[in-house]
Amino acid sequence: MNTTDTAAPELEIAPGVRAPMLGLGTWPLLGVDAADSVARGIANGYRHIDTAEKYGNEDAVGEGIRRSGIARGDLWVTSKLSLPGHSRAGAIQSYDAALKRMGLEYLDLFLVHWPNPELGGYVEACHGLQELVNAGRLRAWGVSNFKAAHLDEVLAARLKPAINQIQVDPRHLQRPLLEANAARGIATGAYSPLGRAGDFLTDPAITGPATAHSKTPAQIVLRWHLDSGRIAVPKSASDARQRENLAVFDFTLTPAQRAGIDALDTGAGPRLDSDEYGH
Ligand SMILES: NC(=O)c1ccc[n+]([C@@H]2O[C@H](COP(=O)([O-])OP(=O)(O)OC[C@H]3O[C@@H](n4cnc5c(N)ncnc54)[C@H](OP(=O)(O)O)[C@@H]3O)[C@@H](O)[C@H]2O)c1
Repeated sequence: MNTTDTAAPELEIAPGVRAPMLGLGTWPLLGVDAADSVARGIANGYRHIDTAEKYGNEDAVGEGIRRSGIARGDLWVTSKLSLPGHSRAGAIQSYDAALKRMGLEYLDLFLVHWPNPELGGYVEACHGLQELVNAGRLRAWGVSNFKAAHLDEVLAARLKPAINQIQVDPRHLQRPLLEANAARGIATGAYSPLGRAGDFLTDPAITGPATAHSKTPAQIVLRWHLDSGRIAVPKSASDARQRENLAVFDFTLTPAQRAGIDALDTGAGPRLDSDEYGH
């Protein structure tokens, strides 16, 4: 596989900041499994790695990055803050702690992992993240699991998240939230983009295009995310599936194929309601 085959398209999520649209998820890998997966992923061509304080693997992800030998500037690294990062100073402390755990000098993207609205601190956390960007210490910041009402509180404070990373798969399209992100000029990141190998992988709306394009069902779903303008971070620890998930840059779906997959949406919300759950 040469470099061209594995070079993901990029999305400009903030002025002058372009993120590879396909990244490697790392939850729930820990320790040597996480380090091995990240080193293998980079060797396989991934240039975007997704981790979080909550996953407990930032140190191992950092080790995998170092082991890969890749130049830092050739890689996109995302992490996410948990509580107690929900204040201006707390967000900056969370960032410094993440860098220390990972052994990195900067991150490309740092997200507020959950809004925790009952604590009322996420707008202040966003102020802290914007300060890091202003200081040239962080390339871009964003949020995750934010509903439209949470986004509007952030925007009302004259703060603009680059991205909202949310659960999206063919059965959980979260159409109103996709539209809310788009209407606010906020990019959408899809987590659990394969629905954790969901049952839809055997649906004819996906197996049909798979046959037509000589691709696997998972590749069709990942291409559907890209063709819909979303950044996707599928997790695989397997060498073969990591390569499979990256081999999606040499074809596109037709509008009818995309619409067929959109039609699998059940209208169901995400697994976890961010007004109820957070950390
Ligand atoms: N922001 C948030 O709140 C949040 C929440 C959840 C996840 N995330 C991020 O999103 C990433 C991905 O989400 P996820 O891990 O929940 O779900 P996912 O990527 O949709 O699915 C991962 C599962 O699918 C399997 N798989 C991967 N590629 C496959 C393929 N080509 N064919 C068949 N099965 C395949 C993997 O097994 P193998 O490893 O054995 O291949 C794993 O069991 C996480 O790792 C994490 O970085 C973020």
